[in-house]
Amino acid sequence: MFNKLCVIGVGLIGGSVAKAARAQGLAKTIVGYGRAQDLVNLQTAKRLGVIDEFYIESVGWVEERNPTNHTANVGLRYANPTYQAVEGADCVVIATPVASIEAIFTQLKPFWSENTIYTDVGSTKGSVLAAAERVFGVIPDNLVPAHPIAGAEQSGVEAALVDLFSHKRLIITPASHTNPDAVQKIKQFWQGFGALVSIMDAQHHDGILAATSHLPHILAFALVDMLGHKDEQTEIFKYAAGGFRDFTRIASSDPTMWKDICAANKSEILPLIEQLRAELAKIHGLLANDDYQQLFSTFAYAKSARQRFLNQFEVPTMSKSITFHVQNGGKLQGEARVPGDKSMSHRSIMLGSLAEGVTHVKGFLEAEDALATLQAFRDMGVEIEGPVNGELTIHGVGKHGLKAPKNDLYLGNSGTSMRLLSGLLAGQPFNSVLTGDKSLSGRPMKRVTEPLAKMGADIKTTEKGTAPLYITGKAGQLTGIDYVMPMASAQVKSCLILAGMYAQGETSVTEPAPTRDHTERMLAGFSYPVKQDGSKVTVTADGKLIAADIDVPSDISSAAFFLVGASIAEGSDLLLKHVGINPTRTGVIDILRLMGANIEVLNEREVGGEPVADLHVVYSPLKGIDIPEHLVPLAIDEFPVLFVAAACAEGQTRLTGAEELRVKESDRIQVMADGLQILGVDAQPTEDGMIIQGGGNIGGGTVTSHGDHRIAMAFSIAGLRASAPITVLDCANVNTSFPEFKDLVKNLGLDLVCEES
Ligand code: S3P
Repeated sequence: MFNKLCVIGVGLIGGSVAKAARAQGLAKTIVGYGRAQDLVNLQTAKRLGVIDEFYIESVGWVEERNPTNHTANVGLRYANPTYQAVEGADCVVIATPVASIEAIFTQLKPFWSENTIYTDVGSTKGSVLAAAERVFGVIPDNLVPAHPIAGAEQSGVEAALVDLFSHKRLIITPASHTNPDAVQKIKQFWQGFGALVSIMDAQHHDGILAATSHLPHILAFALVDMLGHKDEQTEIFKYAAGGFRDFTRIASSDPTMWKDICAANKSEILPLIEQLRAELAKIHGLLANDDYQQLFSTFAYAKSARQRFLNQFEVPTMSKSITFHVQNGGKLQGEARVPGDKSMSHRSIMLGSLAEGVTHVKGFLEAEDALATLQAFRDMGVEIEGPVNGELTIHGVGKHGLKAPKNDLYLGNSGTSMRLLSGLLAGQPFNSVLTGDKSLSGRPMKRVTEPLAKMGADIKTTEKGTAPLYITGKAGQLTGIDYVMPMASAQVKSCLILAGMYAQGETSVTEPAPTRDHTERMLAGFSYPVKQDGSKVTVTADGKLIAADIDVPSDISSAAFFLVGASIAEGSDLLLKHVGINPTRTGVIDILRLMGANIEVLNEREVGGEPVADLHVVYSPLKGIDIPEHLVPLAIDEFPVLFVAAACAEGQTRLTGAEELRVKESDRIQVMADGLQILGVDAQPTEDGMIIQGGGNIGGGTVTSHGDHRIAMAFSIAGLRASAPITVLDCANVNTSFPEFKDLVKNLGLDLVCEES
């Protein structure tokens, strides 16, 4: 809190500083100061209560006697309005255009006080420091240059806004010897207005602003300059519309101010103009050569980069709540291709990024989980084009080419992203932080951090062993281990394999039961050596990944909803095309067949190292079984919908050895048992599974998925055999794995209405 704040230049920015300081109680007295031509503006500021008093710069010295001291010099001082404005101020904010700052420093010099902190709001910072050096010889240590990145179209104190800086960035650019207390005070002052304060050196600031503010202004002025002359001859503006208006908005800015800014930051701007010239030449070349593929890639990359820019402004709001209203009855008929495999989509991004060369991916799952992985790699400097219709182009950076992410890596709901990335990032030459949504932040991470710690990794979790994960990169310091997994988990296995690719010696993982082996297969596809010896897989750091094209098959975990739906609804007949049938994933087919389902595996083939087939399923009465435990890891994600199959089967179905279901996106044993009971099914949860008395008597009612995508879809499928409508709450997360589910299931014969609120 300042006793006296002096604002030099009470225009839009200076006026907003004064207003905010007053509103937040950050200054007792606020004094304005300006030039003779600012008189009306300063009078307005006083009338509006923005400032308490003001002084006008005088030309030359006015002589006036100090009644208590009769020496001429002191008399001159007392009569000087600059002195009167700044005298006794705790803080002086210079809010005038950058070009005038040197003159302001010159005026302030005779009265510069070590008891005052001086700051400014200029949009170039190197020039402010240089001006200070010219005027004072050395940059005063109580000068704290700052730049609020905020503005408005209008100017003058009447346009000043009390919240102009709220949630806006503010950059402080101290010199190496600037007094840290002064920096701290200025930081707190701006934070008091709600600004998001960063501290960096002046050159870094000027480079950033040249690219994101000065260059766009130059471009807007240049385009309008060029087209304005054309317009004088051919009246083209008459037909210009929204796009032109949006793009050229900033060409309405003050030309004097922008001339001064460009002059002040010339050294940063000139190389950027050269780069822009090269970019335009590239586009010129692509067009001239009819290279529309590359032109598309350039535009698609720019679109996604802009989205990244927009995303940071998104105030986290309560995400939309989605409810599925399912009419009971119906049957599934026809042909469908469900979206790409989630596990393989994640891995295609990870390994494609680490490869040398360009990887093309087809069939990529465009759903939130896989997109979270994609974004994480973009954040680590990998250029990825797409996805467009499931196609991606990944410009691999090589095993050692990832760059430090500037922010935390947010992985949404995706356990696979978090666990696999923890292994990969443990051995990088940079630190990283992994965060996720509420569900992911409650899931166990010790299963990866403990074995990684044995390899020498440094990963901090919460006390409960959950995210956020704070990873200190230990490049060159990991050592291989021989790890026997206590649980059958492909995520843990893959995590350790990825860490092993950066560790000294061999890293081996032995699994208690077979789990999905997509990491091993895809690594082999990228020419990376992986040794498989029974249940033990071994990697070393020797080797590199060579880019390869990937064709991701349909996800059997998504197909499972239709395999069960068609098996339980009389009259169903469905063909599911191009489904991945890797033997580590086909437990659902085996279990359903044991229950009496009629599923044919047709047209078996191999695509990019993974077996693929079309699955033909027709209705068949099911019977209850004891599910063989060895099939549990091979159908681990399919149990929610298999419980629905069990509810429709004749007799009892018993699942054991599936305690892992309790730590999935929700506690799938409890949540499914609760929902089935609401629908009138006798479903008894056990520690490691469930006992369901079948018979097909599923009633209607309202159940909740607890934000678990697979539970939402499983209860929707139950509608096919229910005697009354089912409402499923909290279905937004279906978008994490299968955004098309509601439309596809409707097309095939289930009456599902999706309500958003
Ligand atoms: C996955 C492995 C499984 C599975 C998850 C995806 C993978 O998890 O449930 O949906 O892609 O490796 P666990 O490793 O925890 O069993």
